[in-house]
Amino acid sequence: MKLVYAISTLALPKTLAPIDPEVFGVERERMSTLRLGVNIDHVATLRQARYATMPESKNAEPDPIVAAAICQRAGATGIVAHLRSDRRHMQGRDIERLRENIMTKLNLEMGNTPEIVDVALRIVPDEVCLVPEKREEVTTEGGLDVVAHRKELEPTIRRLQTAGIHVSLFVDPTLEQIDAAGELGVEMVELHTGKLANAFSEKIEKQELENLQAAARAASELKLQVNAGHGINYTNISLIHNIPHLSELNIGHSIISRAVFVGLETAVREMLAAMQDYRG
Ligand code: PXP
Repeated sequence: MKLVYAISTLALPKTLAPIDPEVFGVERERMSTLRLGVNIDHVATLRQARYATMPESKNAEPDPIVAAAICQRAGATGIVAHLRSDRRHMQGRDIERLRENIMTKLNLEMGNTPEIVDVALRIVPDEVCLVPEKREEVTTEGGLDVVAHRKELEPTIRRLQTAGIHVSLFVDPTLEQIDAAGELGVEMVELHTGKLANAFSEKIEKQELENLQAAARAASELKLQVNAGHGINYTNISLIHNIPHLSELNIGHSIISRAVFVGLETAVREMLAAMQDYRG
């Protein structure tokens, strides 16, 4: 399968002209079919650190829309943004502008709350990934409990799908969660890789890898697209290669962190290079 390169046509400095895949020195045929969605929340986190009380300031920066354009140009096939109830990073206006401007797909991460569901139905991202959301957490710390919340999830999933939005559920890698996701008729699951990424012993790492492998196989058998995300970085990406059936990785923190030192375009390209030998 050929990797489809969606290139942004957003107005960017001339130095940011679209690149050819061969620039990586990698032949098209050998390139991985594993796609990369870049979570750009932390670009907004940085802006909010200074401009939360002055959103209309002419000085408000960095702009997540510019970040999205650079990620696309570097080869990301999706832009991921989480609109949280407390608006700690992304704002509603950011999501609207992303929707208007990006050429790849927009994956909106969100909790299942009436206010945020209304935003999604108004903006109509390509995909929604439903996640659990607690105000006190630093990031999304566990998967959505699809088994326990089936009743509340079902109408939301139907409303989103009726609006033409593909729905993913962010779940811990257990067979119960995968089965429940399959029964709810979603198109995708995103396996929570946080426990693998943060494992502090080889035993936990091995166990978690086995859980992820089994969950990926089960989801694939149910014809669900299998994505993965959370805590993936330039080192533990090698472990992710052991999980079968993956279509897409959604990565934020480590790419934006690396971008501070090497620039966003290079950070995205380096992650894509680390993903390229994935053989499913
Ligand atoms: N996928 C989902 C569903 C998430 O909630 C997050 C964190 O916002 C990510 C991927 C990205 O995680 P990280 O920032 O650790 O790469």
